[in-house]
Amino acid sequence: MQRLRTIAQWRDYAQRQRDAGRSVGLVPTMGALHAGHTSLFDEAKSRGDVVLVTIFVNPRQFGDPTDLGNYPRTPEVDHRLALQHGVDCLVEPTLEEMWPDYPQSTSTTVTVHGVGDLLEGAGRPGHFDGVASVVAKLFAVSGACRAYFGEKDYQQIAVVRQMVRDLALPVEVVGCPIVRDHDGLALSSRNLLLSEPARDQARALSRALFRVTDSNLYASEMRRVMRALMQDAGVQVAYADVVDPVTLVPARDDQGGEFRALVAGIVDGIRLIDNAPVFVSPRRD
Ligand code: PAJ
Repeated sequence: MQRLRTIAQWRDYAQRQRDAGRSVGLVPTMGALHAGHTSLFDEAKSRGDVVLVTIFVNPRQFGDPTDLGNYPRTPEVDHRLALQHGVDCLVEPTLEEMWPDYPQSTSTTVTVHGVGDLLEGAGRPGHFDGVASVVAKLFAVSGACRAYFGEKDYQQIAVVRQMVRDLALPVEVVGCPIVRDHDGLALSSRNLLLSEPARDQARALSRALFRVTDSNLYASEMRRVMRALMQDAGVQVAYADVVDPVTLVPARDDQGGEFRALVAGIVDGIRLIDNAPVFVSPRRD
């Protein structure tokens, strides 16, 4: 496995792969790797791509400096997991390389309006500007590739897809299913920060989603059921919504069919998100 730190080496590595006729599979991460991340490595590998993983804790997508300071970092585990899953190239760019002007903001920011303004975008102002800006840079350095993202961050995929379309970037975005723990909790680097009781409360997010999955409810009933279940468990609810799976526009009660339920909540000061496909029944009165 190659380990690179500079943009020049990384750009050159990806170009050499394409020159040799190999496709590049990019998996952007912020480290503290777990089975959710490695499922993306495996998917990239199974499609025959040379797997290039980036680890960069991107300060521009954290609103709160303590959130950034607390973000878990597990470099030894990351290295071992990357090796075990056949990652070909692990890139850990430095802050100086990625954002030379940090903590001053860069002159160029990528903003994705529409899908980027809702849900997480509304609750965490500037978050998706930080995500879109860093992902645009990762794509710019990596060049033509497939890029693998987890549905765990469902809205993030919608934002990245919109950016790729709008800027005609030479990237095929591949969405991959959510990996969960045995108790339903979606794997997340932030789970490492949860105390045992908080972890128990956190399970309410997935329980709320599963409760409405096959419930035959209409959209606002689903929202109510999910919110109540999370609140009863002591979760501070940020949102519990049912939205169009592509545009992320909230479902109306007279609509039925395939939608996406998304929830976000704060447990013990840690913000958690989860989502699932749902079949919504239209309201009939
Ligand atoms: P990070 O949270 O490290 O996640 C990296 C990738 O792993 C994302 O595409 C995320 O959706 C995916 N992932 C995380 N948990 C998962 C799970 N339980 N199941 C499936 N996939 C999962 O997302 C980011 O980093 C950053 O915003 C990034 C895109 C790297 C930009 O900084």
